[in-house]
Amino acid sequence: MAEVEAVVAPGETIAELDVTRAWLIDPASGREGPGEIVVEEGRVGAVTWLDGTEADGIAPDGVIVAPGFVDLHAHFREPGFEQAETIATGSAAAAHGGFTTVCLMPNTRPAIDEAAVLVAVGQAAAASGSPVRVLAYGAVTHGRAGEELAALGELADAGAIGFSDDGSPVRSAGVLRNALLYAAMLDLPIVDHPEEQGLTGGAEANEGLVATVLGLKGWPAAAEAAAVARDIAVLADVVATEPRARLHLTHLSVAESIDLVRRAKAAGLPVTCDVTPHHLALTDEWIAGARRYAWQAEGVNPDPWRDRALVAGPFDTSLRVNPPLRRPADVMACLAGLRDGTVDAIATDHAPHTRVDKDVEFGLAANGISGIETALGLLLEAVAAGQVPLGRVIAALTVGPARILGSRLPAPIGLNEGAPADLMIFDAGDRWEVNETSLRSLGHNSPLLGRALPGRVLLTVAAGRVAYLDEADPDRD
Ligand code: DOR
Repeated sequence: MAEVEAVVAPGETIAELDVTRAWLIDPASGREGPGEIVVEEGRVGAVTWLDGTEADGIAPDGVIVAPGFVDLHAHFREPGFEQAETIATGSAAAAHGGFTTVCLMPNTRPAIDEAAVLVAVGQAAAASGSPVRVLAYGAVTHGRAGEELAALGELADAGAIGFSDDGSPVRSAGVLRNALLYAAMLDLPIVDHPEEQGLTGGAEANEGLVATVLGLKGWPAAAEAAAVARDIAVLADVVATEPRARLHLTHLSVAESIDLVRRAKAAGLPVTCDVTPHHLALTDEWIAGARRYAWQAEGVNPDPWRDRALVAGPFDTSLRVNPPLRRPADVMACLAGLRDGTVDAIATDHAPHTRVDKDVEFGLAANGISGIETALGLLLEAVAAGQVPLGRVIAALTVGPARILGSRLPAPIGLNEGAPADLMIFDAGDRWEVNETSLRSLGHNSPLLGRALPGRVLLTVAAGRVAYLDEADPDRD
């Protein structure tokens, strides 16, 4: 049985941590297996890998130690929408989810389209007292309006980790082209939210059986695939003159997009992508009232009515999200992309919203799922179902995003002896209930409320300090 002994106080440098007979995962060194780890005064003292009889009985179904997760895509709503989330509450939620670094999207009010706003975000992060590292993207265009480029150089000097108009796509191919060129000179990526808005006006749910039966306006897969194809075509054009250009496509959700990225990568283009935990597990059937995961519904033409899979009421607005939840076949394609490395990272697109913005008709509800705390649990469901190896999931939450951030990530990933501890510990054999009390986020817009998810996070340590401690169990065995 693993033992976790710790002398810890939330917010403080971790005084002492001694984890014995646990399962360690270190994607930076490519190593995973039974082991022990000691942390002293905020630094990793020793990492010991066990083998032979010492390793007997230690499996990845109990206490697991991994590097702190990196979220490439989160919305903390400050400045402007602090009733939905603040940098302090978002950081607390991140730590509860095992994340020690978060990358915030600039669709705040004002948008992060000038250095002063980025500086204010950094100040709010420092004032929060949380050791979670808060990084931020600058907007690609002024006010994210898609017309004129923002002052990318000034944003980069102020610490922007890349540029995105997320919430919206970079609207025109011409603006995208210039953005890729300028960002390349700054050695930063353009992170695009691929959506051809000519196909999504008024769209409410993935185009298909569920949308048709529920009377919701369809959101075609082509809206995403067309944008992905456009972006890749523009990138191919730009790299011919500027080989440093880099494009990252965020929250991909359909099989066609994954295929396009797979082919672009095979052709040597500098494109990367991420998928959210919800697009790796949930499907549009949930809007009708099904609660089975994609792999439980897979079949040529799954039909939740015919399958008698409806167990909840329809139109839960916590399921309204952009891009929408898709068909089981799309989820399976995203999982295949994760397994074969086409998908570089899993990013939460944590999108907290107030009740006012969600307690309305389905099509009028704000898009988004509060997901930074439930990411690990959903992914462990996919692991338990044999859809993806645990080590691949942890890599896509750590070294995958770290590679995309490059030198903008302040500290290397890994269980590195002598380095400041940056890790998370969870119990894969324990479940926790998602509810309004257990969630640290102000956003309770989760379709998983009331559900017991696997993988209780016990401790998150960011930059040597305690970011989250499961108070119920500081000394467990
Ligand atoms: O569902 C979403 N919510 N998708 C986005 O692209 C934006 C995000 C938000 O800001 O709420």
